[in-house]
Amino acid sequence: MFNFDSFDIKLETEFVGRNFIYCDEINSTNSDLLANKKLYKKSGTVLFAEKQLKGKGRKDRTWQSAKGLNLTLSILLAKDIVAELNINQLNLAASLTVALAIENLYQLRTELKWPNDVLINSKKVAGILIETTVKGSKIERVVVGFGINLNQIVFQGDFNYPPTSLKLESKVNIDRELVLAEVLNTFEELLMKMQEQPESILEEWRNKCKMIGDKITITDGEKSTSGTFYDIDDNGYLLLKRNDVIEKIHFGDVSLI
Ligand code: BTN
Repeated sequence: MFNFDSFDIKLETEFVGRNFIYCDEINSTNSDLLANKKLYKKSGTVLFAEKQLKGKGRKDRTWQSAKGLNLTLSILLAKDIVAELNINQLNLAASLTVALAIENLYQLRTELKWPNDVLINSKKVAGILIETTVKGSKIERVVVGFGINLNQIVFQGDFNYPPTSLKLESKVNIDRELVLAEVLNTFEELLMKMQEQPESILEEWRNKCKMIGDKITITDGEKSTSGTFYDIDDNGYLLLKRNDVIEKIHFGDVSLI
């Protein structure tokens, strides 16, 4: 059972997580937070669920997470904040948030996989799904959804990348309230940094992405392209070098050749 007081005492943020909604079961924290404009208004609102019945992953995949063992949550960023946000950089900041939180608390080495997976020992421990609503030509609301595997030790089903959890990697029971507070504290810090020193987020992300310089294939639906992972640009797009030409990649799944 989630212990709210134990989480709350560790929360050091100004606004992220200060409006905290806990659910036992929900279809998807992302969908609910994004759709309910009237109910959820404040930037920083966190919708946390013990179980998602229709948890969503990137590219129309599903996100499977055992009830009560992991973290599945979404953070709302509303009008007051989104005007200044670079959504692509936000993707990088969100995955960096999880990597830093894990390293600070459990001294496990994490790796980042473009665009926003968090790996430990080449297995996926967390995924991020950012969704937006648009009014006219402007982004109105952004939700940042985090699925972080903490205490689950058996994974069944099909996965595009082998899954793992912090418990499997560290061999200790993971304190969910502590990790949640650390993730929210770090996320708020990085949101500020994105405005003040966006280049430092890019640099930290690069340092944790071990695939830069490797030969990779990028798959997007039926299409796949191979080349060298040259770098990420200031917007967080992947730069792929093919026959001495650098191509900017916006979407896709990266795999090593
Ligand atoms: C991925 O790696 O494909 C992204 C996974 C994102 C999962 C989280 S769990 C909380 C939030 N609500 C959802 O439906 N999905 C995200």
